[in-house]
Amino acid sequence: MSSGILIFFVAVLATVFFYSRRHSKLPLPPGPRPKLFTGNAHQLPKKEPWLTYAKWAESYGPIFSFHVPNRQFIVLSSLQSATELLDSRATIYSDRPRVWMQTELAKRNLNPFNISCTHPYFKTYRTTLKASLSSRAIQSYQLLQTEQSHILLGILHKNPEHLIEQIRTNTAAVVLNLAYGWKVTDNNDHLINILKEGLEMSAVLAQPGRWLVDTIPPLRFLPVWFPGAGFKRLAFDLGKKLSRLDMIPFNWAKNQIHSGNYTHSFVSEQLLPEDGSTVSAEQEDITKWCSLGIYAGGVDTTTSSLSSFILAMLLYPEVQKHAQAEVDAVVGQDRFPVFDDRSKLPYIGALIQEILRWAPVAPQGIPHYAMREDVYEGYRIPKGATVIANILSISRDKEMYPDPLEFRPERFLGPSPQLDPRKFIFGFGRRRCPGTHFAEASLYLSISCILAAFTIGKALDARGEEITPPAEFESSGLLWLPKPFKCKFIPRNKDLLATLSQ
Ligand code: HEM
Repeated sequence: MSSGILIFFVAVLATVFFYSRRHSKLPLPPGPRPKLFTGNAHQLPKKEPWLTYAKWAESYGPIFSFHVPNRQFIVLSSLQSATELLDSRATIYSDRPRVWMQTELAKRNLNPFNISCTHPYFKTYRTTLKASLSSRAIQSYQLLQTEQSHILLGILHKNPEHLIEQIRTNTAAVVLNLAYGWKVTDNNDHLINILKEGLEMSAVLAQPGRWLVDTIPPLRFLPVWFPGAGFKRLAFDLGKKLSRLDMIPFNWAKNQIHSGNYTHSFVSEQLLPEDGSTVSAEQEDITKWCSLGIYAGGVDTTTSSLSSFILAMLLYPEVQKHAQAEVDAVVGQDRFPVFDDRSKLPYIGALIQEILRWAPVAPQGIPHYAMREDVYEGYRIPKGATVIANILSISRDKEMYPDPLEFRPERFLGPSPQLDPRKFIFGFGRRRCPGTHFAEASLYLSISCILAAFTIGKALDARGEEITPPAEFESSGLLWLPKPFKCKFIPRNKDLLATLSQ
């Protein structure tokens, strides 16, 4: 080797060494003071960590860090830091943190929410989901969405008790039809029950802080018979049960397709390609996982936003009046709104943006993972850090949204509208939600039909006084839903409602 090449290699090595030393010497973003062995574990609440993160952001700024044993967290609380890292540097931040109990031991690593972006399936998931849920592709589900929004009106009219549960069943019916072509006919639906059971088991496996193996990963090598390795048996058992449950809706859809008597769905689209080509076992497996992702991603999120809409209408009657006036002026009073009306209803569009902002469905999104060390604003972001965009803090940023707790669709109208929350509410980079178009279309139709059919009013208590529910939310895993509340659906147009039962 010539001395020139040698000098070149030494220079490269020295530069790499210098930069790696320099990076590792940079400080982590500031954060709450940790304890010696347990880090900040003692300061983390069991539920709704996004509220604690929002408070910490006030003390430590838009990028802060904390740690629990074996895991470093970086929390981004401004739109700028979240987009600069998760969108612009997506090559570094598109992975998911390892959750050993769920992804490795119970073998749920191929679930679209958990899958590593380095897995060969990942790209296919993203292209398949994006194509099947694009604004053009979802037009083929408009009839389904219309039927189901009218069914929802009937339910709200006759039986407004257990409101959030009723909305959930209706949303599940839409998503099951979209994913598998399954038609829900009653409140005790076989497939809804199966999928619910599956989601509950997955929630047990993913419970933060519950499994020591997620803190001390080498514990996964314990033999199953070893005292204290009960978690491993549980993970295997739940993993097996879950893979059996996964197959039930998928096999049902496959059998329908083979029989020739099927409804168009995501699964039928994937298993019967337009070019007539045969589908490999791998493509079938991908279709099975993506259809589960559509169900898991679509039901509770839309349920939450629709429930928040009803709560907001109760608390802001003047907004409700304004929205009804727009629907009446554009649609008239002798039919329900349809998809073709959407572009002519800007106030309804702004109202949907405000629901997404005012009641963020996934207040801390889904955690991302730093695949290599990075530097941002003079801070070190270590390889392996869990990176969270605190969507709640962004949606309540006073600079972007003055009086952030107030529900004001007008923010998004006029010559200088405030920032469109869809820029961050659906997440970031290569993991951004693929279901945005479908979610918004479902929300548009249900919301405009409810406003055409009813005035949402306050329920009365035993003394005949109006109940004003608080604008309070509760967590369900990573999601946020309004706390159960009561209300009345007062028909605005009985003739129009009567057309529903014809
Ligand atoms: C109001 C409605 C919805 C909201 C606010 C929402 C929000 C989100 C967020 C924040 C993420 C995480 C993105 C990230 O990691 O940065 C996500 C992921 C996802 N969402 Fe949605 N979502 C909604 C509706 C839907 C619907 C209707 C579907 C399916 C039809 C869906 C399917 C998914 C899937 C499959 C993922 C995982 C993407 C991945 O990890 O690569 N979502 N969503």
